[in-house]
Amino acid sequence: MPSDEVLAFQRWYEKAGVRRTPRRLLRPGEDLDRYSFFPRHLIPHMEHPRVLKDPELARYLEAQYLFQWLNFTAHFEVGVVNRATHLISTGRAGIECPPDVQQGAFQIYVDEGYHSLYSLDMVRQLEARSGIDAVPYDFDEYLDGLDAVGHDYPGHGRLVQLLQVVTFETLVTGILLDVPKDPTLIPEVREIVQDHAVDEGTHHAYFSAFFKRLWGTLSVSERQMVARWLPDLILRSLKPATTPTANALRAVGTPEAEIREIIGDSFSPAAVVGGIRRSSVNTVRLFASMGILDDAQTHDAFARAGLAPEEQ
Ligand SMILES: [Fe+2]
Ligand SMILES: [Fe+2]
Repeated sequence: MPSDEVLAFQRWYEKAGVRRTPRRLLRPGEDLDRYSFFPRHLIPHMEHPRVLKDPELARYLEAQYLFQWLNFTAHFEVGVVNRATHLISTGRAGIECPPDVQQGAFQIYVDEGYHSLYSLDMVRQLEARSGIDAVPYDFDEYLDGLDAVGHDYPGHGRLVQLLQVVTFETLVTGILLDVPKDPTLIPEVREIVQDHAVDEGTHHAYFSAFFKRLWGTLSVSERQMVARWLPDLILRSLKPATTPTANALRAVGTPEAEIREIIGDSFSPAAVVGGIRRSSVNTVRLFASMGILDDAQTHDAFARAGLAPEEQ
């Protein structure tokens, strides 16, 4: 009987995007001006009056938002997801895993490597075709923030890395849902996001089951410690990146005061938490289904973060 984690991987060799899909190439001669780069309703600063009044700036920021999301994806998959799948697949996760669970982690490792590859491939193709250069992207700021959770508990580094991945891989962001359906977007961008969303459905099933396995190995005191980290892991996983937006505005000569104004108005704390809450519904539901939020202090920690289930 296969382990719960790998039921969704039964036909990986036929269904995984890396095995099944061709390289997504922009059609020769395709005019990108007919399409949008990214859904504007998913870009926090796109509704700002200073952006709206300048269509050329809006188009540039739309392209840069796509570039930064693809660059983020390329870094995150190999830097965070595969840091943990490497541990699981090579039997170094710190918990007993059956061989098929290890093999499933190797399959995810391959999937994520391919997601990174085609994300960067699409950035390069779009730069060449559009003539818009991607603003240099720095992943370290995000990674440092994510790795800061649990930092006060040395000796639990591997556990934190596993939890980062369980959290992120069970989130459902609007990007994976909305981009494939939007006919106004560049077709090949829609295709890679659709390819990605299919694989992530499998990963979601794997990590939901893996979290239950992991949780089952923890002592009562470890469970209390871990439960308090979870809201922060969700917030830091989904915290919108303002630095790439500021860098994009700076690259076209926007004055610093105006950059601060656009960022401050567009990324208000209430709007940011609202977006995070929507994307984390499934993850919080998973934790709640396991009784994790029945503990009053844990529930309070989720409520303080604006993530309690009754607020979803
Ligand atoms: Fe992925
Ligand atoms: Fe994934």
